[in-house]
Amino acid sequence: MIAFNYYNPTEIIFGRGRHEEVGEQIRKRGGKKVLFHYGGGSIKRSGLYEQICHSLEEAGLSFVELGGVRPNPRVSLVREGIRLCREENVDYVLAVGGGSVIDSAKAISAGMFYAGDVWDFYLRKAEAQRALPIGVVLTIPAAGSETGGGSVITNEDGDFKRDYISNLLMPQFAILNPELCRTVPQNQISAGSADILAHVMERYFTNTPRTDFIDRLCEGAMRSVMLSAVRVKKTPDDCDAWSELMWGGTIAHCGLLGTGRVQDWASHNIEHELSAKYGIAHGTGLAIIFPAWMKYVYKVNPGRFVQFAVRVMDVDISFDSQEEIALEGISCVENFFRSLDLPVRLHEAGIGTDDFDELARKACDRGTFGGFMKIGYDDVISILKFAQ
Ligand code: NZQ
Ligand code: ZN
Repeated sequence: MIAFNYYNPTEIIFGRGRHEEVGEQIRKRGGKKVLFHYGGGSIKRSGLYEQICHSLEEAGLSFVELGGVRPNPRVSLVREGIRLCREENVDYVLAVGGGSVIDSAKAISAGMFYAGDVWDFYLRKAEAQRALPIGVVLTIPAAGSETGGGSVITNEDGDFKRDYISNLLMPQFAILNPELCRTVPQNQISAGSADILAHVMERYFTNTPRTDFIDRLCEGAMRSVMLSAVRVKKTPDDCDAWSELMWGGTIAHCGLLGTGRVQDWASHNIEHELSAKYGIAHGTGLAIIFPAWMKYVYKVNPGRFVQFAVRVMDVDISFDSQEEIALEGISCVENFFRSLDLPVRLHEAGIGTDDFDELARKACDRGTFGGFMKIGYDDVISILKFAQ
């Protein structure tokens, strides 16, 4: 194990019906004027919008709203949110939605007190000194943004998708009501599940020795997530299955499973270029990139891939060579994604080979990356070729 700090201040409020407590949660934390931030309309169709308004009103809070966050959220709407918060003297930001809404809320929260342009944070040109407090009502298990300090935003001027991470952006509370997930469309169930699995795998594939405790938490987490994903796909009304996936999605990305080890994150880095350029769901891009990354890097530490194959994918240890076992584990990952009707090759998502140079250049514009194996321009090209 290596040295680490683990910090996660977000209060989790889990259970059916609990989104009705949202107004009270903000009131008791001193919020008075709320920005109610949401996505493209699912919360209006489901009736959640009215319930949130009602809860805010009941708690005596006044609020302004800003909907219209799109998947792979845009910096232009963030700028609009910052203007609105300043005009209206907002003192609390409430995100009701998935990762895109939460990340947009975090960007608004950080931009509120910054004199320059909010994109500076994402270019690493500035560091937030202060931010508005944030609360979350989660409607889809996927990104894990509800307990983290990370925000991923797309600048439509050039299709750059970049992240900014600060402890100031960690939500004060996150309400997880599994009932709210029952309306999530099939393709988003799949993409979200792939993202959750990927968040564990990014941490699991490490060369740090002696990490048994967290390894075994990761292995159990991956097995459970795969099981729950299949269950919710089959029976989206099954709240117990949603409960498992929702809590699993939060634990997968709350930081715990990355403690004491060097983490990888190369697949995420490469994927962000795909979702920025082609507008695909982040989890869909990961279903394509992650297996390709695995095929490219497994020889760096075959033992870790054998451990994954045997303990997570139940690959028979009596295979003749380590390599065969490792490769079988990787094909199990692909098969799992396929079983969720996700593409596992670029062409299956309608993506050709013309933009490989641009994608690789953008992925590397802040230097090499990846904790398991250092990835540079040529490596990204090779991984994209494995994925084509
Ligand atoms: O916008 P609405 O109409 O609400 O519809 C959304 C959206 O179209 C829909 N949806 C969400 N909950 C629903 C629902 N539809 C019906 N019923 C519900 N209960 O689902 C669609 C996708 O929403 P989105 O928020 O984009 O999904 P997700 O949670 O997967 O977030 C993806 C974003 O998070 C970023 C990704 O890059 C991507 O931009 N990530 C953020 C991370 C972080 N902050 O730590 C880490 C992740 O690795 C990831 O990069
Ligand atoms: Zn992710």
